[in-house]
Amino acid sequence: MEILDLSQAIERGRVSRGPVLINNKPDLRSGKRDDFMTGEFYQNGKTYTFRIWDKDIYQIVIEYGPGIYVAETVGSDFNGPYLTVRSIDLYPGDDLTRHDFMGGIPRAELTSNLDEVKMRLNEVGVSDKCWELINLALQHPMLEGRFLIEGAATRHHDNVVGGLANHTTKMLRLLSALLFNNPELQKSSDLLTFSIFMHDIGKIFEYRDLDVGEYWFANHRVRGIEFLSEIKDEIIARYDENFYRQVQSVIAGHHGPYGDRPTTVAAVIVHYIDVLESQATELVREQLNAPGNKIRHTDFGFLREIPLFEENK
Ligand SMILES: [Fe+2]
Ligand SMILES: [Fe+2]
Repeated sequence: MEILDLSQAIERGRVSRGPVLINNKPDLRSGKRDDFMTGEFYQNGKTYTFRIWDKDIYQIVIEYGPGIYVAETVGSDFNGPYLTVRSIDLYPGDDLTRHDFMGGIPRAELTSNLDEVKMRLNEVGVSDKCWELINLALQHPMLEGRFLIEGAATRHHDNVVGGLANHTTKMLRLLSALLFNNPELQKSSDLLTFSIFMHDIGKIFEYRDLDVGEYWFANHRVRGIEFLSEIKDEIIARYDENFYRQVQSVIAGHHGPYGDRPTTVAAVIVHYIDVLESQATELVREQLNAPGNKIRHTDFGFLREIPLFEENK
C-alpha cells in the first residue's frame, strides 16, 4: 500500500486514502456541538494538520495513540488548510515503519545500488565468503536492522535516512575502480570491501535517527571496534586473526590525520576513498545550496563553481 502523499491530499476538496503516520499524541477539543480531535500527520520532515469530527471515528486513535494508520481524508480549508479524516483504522501490514515516513533515500534504491556494486566487486575478486560475512554482520541483532536507516552524519554529507548505506555504497563503487586499476590489490579485495562496510558502522550507535545518540562521545570508531569484537570469532573462523586486526586498524585509522594515525595500507586507502567520496558529495551539495554559487572551502578559500544539473536539488 503506497503512503498517502499529504502534499497532494491537502488540496481542497481532494479525497485520498492511504497510510499516514501520527507522530505525536493528538488533542481533543470541545467544539460547538461535540468534542473533536485535532492532530498532525508527519511526512518527510513536514506536518499536516488533521481534524476528526466524529467520536466513533477518532476513538481508535485515542485507544492506540501515535503510530501508522490508514486514513481516508478530504482536503479542507478553514483558517488555513487541513485534512478532514473521514475514516481511520490501524495500518494492518508490517512492511511500513515510521522511517518510511521520514523521507530520505528509498530502501529499494539502496538495495538495488548495493546489488549493483556487488556485481562490480565480484568481477574484481570479492568472494562469496566475504558477502556471507557482510550479511552476518549487517543482520547482527545489535544493529537492529539500522544499516539501511541511519544517516552518515547529523550535519554534513548524507544526513538523510539511508545516508550511511548510501555513503558506503558510493565508497564501494570507488573501491571497485581502484581494484580494476591496481590488480595487485585484488589479493585484498575481501579485506577492503569488508573494511568499508565496517568503517562507519559505529555511526549506528553514535547517531539515532539522524540525531546524536545518548553516548555520542564514545565516537563511531570506538563503537565500530566494539561492534566488531562481537563477531570476532566468526571473522577469524572464515579468515584469520590478521584479517580481523586489519579491519580493526581501518576502523581506528580511517579519519587519517583527524583521529588515530593510520597504521596499515588498508587504513590509508579507505581513508582516501572516504575523503574523496564525502568531500565530492559535500562540494556538490554546497554549490547547489549556495546563493550565487559562491563556494567557500575551509582549506582553499573561494572556489569557482562547476556546471551542474539542478534536478536533484
Ligand atoms: Fe568515519
Ligand atoms: Fe565514512
